[in-house]
Amino acid sequence: MDDPGLFHTLYTTRALRRLRPDPIPDHLLFQVLDAAIRAPSGGNAQDWRWLIITEPETKAAIGRWFQEAWEAYQPQYAAEPALMDALPRHRRLPLKATAHLVAHIAEAPVIIAPCGTRGQHSTPGGSIFPAVQNLLLAARGLGLGGVITNFARAHEAGLRTMLGVPDSQQVYCLVPLGYPTDLPGPVHRKPVRQVVFQDRWQQPWPYALAQPDEGWGQRWLSDG
Ligand SMILES: Cc1cc2nc3c(=O)[nH]c(=O)nc-3n(C[C@H](O)[C@H](O)[C@H](O)COP(=O)(O)O)c2cc1C
Repeated sequence: MDDPGLFHTLYTTRALRRLRPDPIPDHLLFQVLDAAIRAPSGGNAQDWRWLIITEPETKAAIGRWFQEAWEAYQPQYAAEPALMDALPRHRRLPLKATAHLVAHIAEAPVIIAPCGTRGQHSTPGGSIFPAVQNLLLAARGLGLGGVITNFARAHEAGLRTMLGVPDSQQVYCLVPLGYPTDLPGPVHRKPVRQVVFQDRWQQPWPYALAQPDEGWGQRWLSDG
């Protein structure tokens, strides 16, 4: 497939939670990880390590932890999924996709576990999430998709034991990766004017006030 281009990719990379079980060819997985580790890290330490999880038993254990987290995070919808049908579209779609992910995480061909040295960096996560986002952008560029998840956070120690990751390492998140059955973005975000200030907290940036609330995505959505 053709590279969709940088800005098209930036404006259309979203959380994709419905994945086909089809395997990802190694050359695509390598490309995704090779692109991920082009990211910056503090002092160029590159002390990230990446585990590609493919074993069914490991994925099943992760699935049980996801289910537990889902029940704690959205108890009413976990108990009665039909309640989601009554929600407005913008709430219903991500919740249903999340419920699907929880139920089917073990079928994802691959779950990536990005790891990094615990306590090494003054900005925790700052030396791993740029690379994780690179990974998602590269996946998008290759017709793959995935989502950053925190659902197994409460079981980080169990995850490390199961994967043989030493205590000195932190598993920062889990990223299921595969061929998505949902379409990519456009992603919808708050307008620049609402989240960017000039010189002083809450002082508007005049240029942004004159821009459309929905941003400049339209410039990039037709090609690619
Ligand atoms: C640090 C972090 C943790 C996240 N944890 C979860 C998660 O546990 N489960 C999940 O389904 N999505 C998770 N997400 C995905 C976000 O919910 C999603 O990217 C966000 O709602 C925006 O959706 P969009 O990218 O589809 O526009 C996480 C994202 C980040 C950056």
